Amino acid sequence: MNTNSFDPNKFKDGQRQQWNSVAAGWKKWWETLERMAKDVTVKIIEMADIQPDQNVLDIATGIGEPALTVAPLVGEKGKVVATDVSSEMLSIARGRAKELGVTNIDFQELDAEQINYPEAEFDSIVCRWGLMFLPDVDGTLNSLHRMLSTDSKFATAVWDEPEKIPFFSFAVHTLKNMFDLPQPPRMRLQCPVWQTEY
Ligand SMILES: C[S@@+](CC[C@H](N)C(=O)[O-])C[C@H]1O[C@@H](n2cnc3c(N)ncnc32)[C@H](O)[C@@H]1O
Repeated sequence: MNTNSFDPNKFKDGQRQQWNSVAAGWKKWWETLERMAKDVTVKIIEMADIQPDQNVLDIATGIGEPALTVAPLVGEKGKVVATDVSSEMLSIARGRAKELGVTNIDFQELDAEQINYPEAEFDSIVCRWGLMFLPDVDGTLNSLHRMLSTDSKFATAVWDEPEKIPFFSFAVHTLKNMFDLPQPPRMRLQCPVWQTEY
């Protein structure tokens, strides 16, 4: 029996639990995170060609991005559907929308691989730092393609392997060097596209 076989459902349950457990940290650090991520968000919005009155889908929105940046751009006649698998991340996203007075986002707790809206429902689909957590990226992209209207755009940003993401590696290496810490225990990052040890 192959005990290492990858179980996508088990993986996704783990993802849900993991993101629920770190949601408070994302809430605490969101201003810093957004300062760091702003250029990525701007690029995604530019590539997706977001326009007033559009109907936009945000996948794996976490605590609400890019949905919260997109919402004022599509305006009152437009709409954003923001989805994520983590109820805790979504709860923070809803709170942030309320604080900002944003009323045109429909937050939905949904696995990206199970999103099922009618054909050509969306004018744009965006996703910041989510696709690399999906066991079946090809299948999901095919399914999303069906939900895009003609001439509409899909724009995304994904993480590369850990060593190429300062977001992960910089803090770990800096702390390790500053305090002469031992090599941290090897951690298998739970990400199907990486399948790597860090
Ligand atoms: C790195 S965070 C990105 C959140 C947000 N888009 C941002 O850029 O700040 C990744 C998000 O992907 C979500 N996620 C992981 N697997 C998912 C899945 N199968 N379906 C939907 N969301 C998922 C997590 O719950 C988490 O909120």
